[in-house]
Amino acid sequence: MNRRDLVRWLGLGAVTHAARRTLFAHADTAHFGAASRSASPSFDPDVELSLSAAPGEASILPGAATRVWRFTGSVLRGPPDSLQAVPDSYLGPTIRLRRGQRVRIRFTNQLPGSTIVHWHGLDVPALMDGHPRLAIAAGDEYVYEFEVSNRAGTYWYHPHPDLRTGPQVYQGLAGLLVVSHDEESALRLPSGEAELVCILQDRQFDAQNQLMYLGGGMMDQMQGFLGDQMLVNGKLRPTMSLATRAYRIRLLNGSNARIYKLRWSDGTPMTVIGGDGGLLEQPVRQRYLTLAPAQRADVILDLSTHAVGATLALETAAYAASEVSMSAAGMGGMMRPSAVPNGTARSLMTLDVARRERAPWVLPTRLSTFDAAWDRPADGPMRRITLEFRQMQWLLGGRTFGMLDVAEEETVPAGSTRIWELANVGGMMGMSMAHPIHIHGRQFRVLSRQRANGAVPPPGSVREGLIDAGWRDTVLVLPGDTVRLQMHFTEHPGLYLYHCHILEHEDAGMMRNFKVV
Ligand code: C2O
Ligand code: CU
Ligand code: CU
Repeated sequence: MNRRDLVRWLGLGAVTHAARRTLFAHADTAHFGAASRSASPSFDPDVELSLSAAPGEASILPGAATRVWRFTGSVLRGPPDSLQAVPDSYLGPTIRLRRGQRVRIRFTNQLPGSTIVHWHGLDVPALMDGHPRLAIAAGDEYVYEFEVSNRAGTYWYHPHPDLRTGPQVYQGLAGLLVVSHDEESALRLPSGEAELVCILQDRQFDAQNQLMYLGGGMMDQMQGFLGDQMLVNGKLRPTMSLATRAYRIRLLNGSNARIYKLRWSDGTPMTVIGGDGGLLEQPVRQRYLTLAPAQRADVILDLSTHAVGATLALETAAYAASEVSMSAAGMGGMMRPSAVPNGTARSLMTLDVARRERAPWVLPTRLSTFDAAWDRPADGPMRRITLEFRQMQWLLGGRTFGMLDVAEEETVPAGSTRIWELANVGGMMGMSMAHPIHIHGRQFRVLSRQRANGAVPPPGSVREGLIDAGWRDTVLVLPGDTVRLQMHFTEHPGLYLYHCHILEHEDAGMMRNFKVV
């Protein structure tokens, strides 16, 4: 095929594909969009919140305010600090819950279109999980009721409607959900003023400071949207004024498609104490921390030996874009390269060591112990799931999303333990990308990660920052990698999702149901 044929053929593919995914959107919504749910009188909550999603404004860049969509909320019952605003930001309030609490969240959709909220990382009954079939129409309410059963840790919430998750999150709909528990509180980790939240997102703005999305059309959709500005907590390169003490920093990569390779500018090692599903068994100290979309990390930054007046920055370090996105020559020529591709080095946030404070604290060497599920052997055959590019689409196990589609091998008994092998085999014309694969329900354990060509990663690789330890709900599967997960499936029966958390891939159908029976 010569280049001109290729262009034409890709064009056709693009049209057919895009058409299928947008024309039927209305049908889907009409068919599945009447899912509002009211409170159940028999559920007696410890915490009751109201949460709404609505258009609003935020000041992000100097000058004109930016039109955004945002979550706001209030506490109707329970501890008043169950919601904590992210100051001066479009981000949703941080929801703070304790393990064991019974929670009711009254969600109202004040957006122009349909939506539904997903509690990313939480193990909740299927009707509480925010599956796209449960999307509610503009003006409707969906009442969530569940008990918090997760380990203490950093989770998050975001919309999950079919075809529109990417744009809705991009317009500002995302927030952190922090679970605490006595076992963790006993460690006396830095808290209160000494606990910081950092949500990383990239955006692109027009000359009037308004958000731009998918300007590159089909190609952006295929590669995932990368903005040219990297924000922390909804601010461009913010400065935090800190003291000479230890801090706990909860990091979330809330970007649609960008993969960060984080480090401290002054060479201070990254001390990672937790991942997606709470504390690790022991701290991991390394130069870099790679964070893929939807992944979280809990990091300790001890400034007690820094001098007052010192400054350091949180940076994303350089790596080769080809490590996470590659294509053969013909296709490569066609890709509109992003102005700020993955692997671009940037300073994200400045930390000023501004005050002396004496708060002696020693990081425990042992952080937590995992429950029996960690070591439980698989009770069924291993399942291999390919991640590949075919017929101009990203496929998950050879298939794309259908609202209620479940295959035989996607059906699992409640509470069973299985090994799923994710094989990133690439595909057509050498197209291959890193895919952060996320599974709803329980957290999983990464058993192994194999590279196609073995060997140690080259210096400067994005792999230098990977952490697979501890409980995870999202794992980055790099091109050529085969990653084995051990998954203890939720005890709650019903329909759940697994998908790529590059939101453009998810919206384009790199998502499937699994059914717990
Ligand atoms: Cu964070 Cu199914 O998503
Ligand atoms: Cu999720
Ligand atoms: Cu993907």
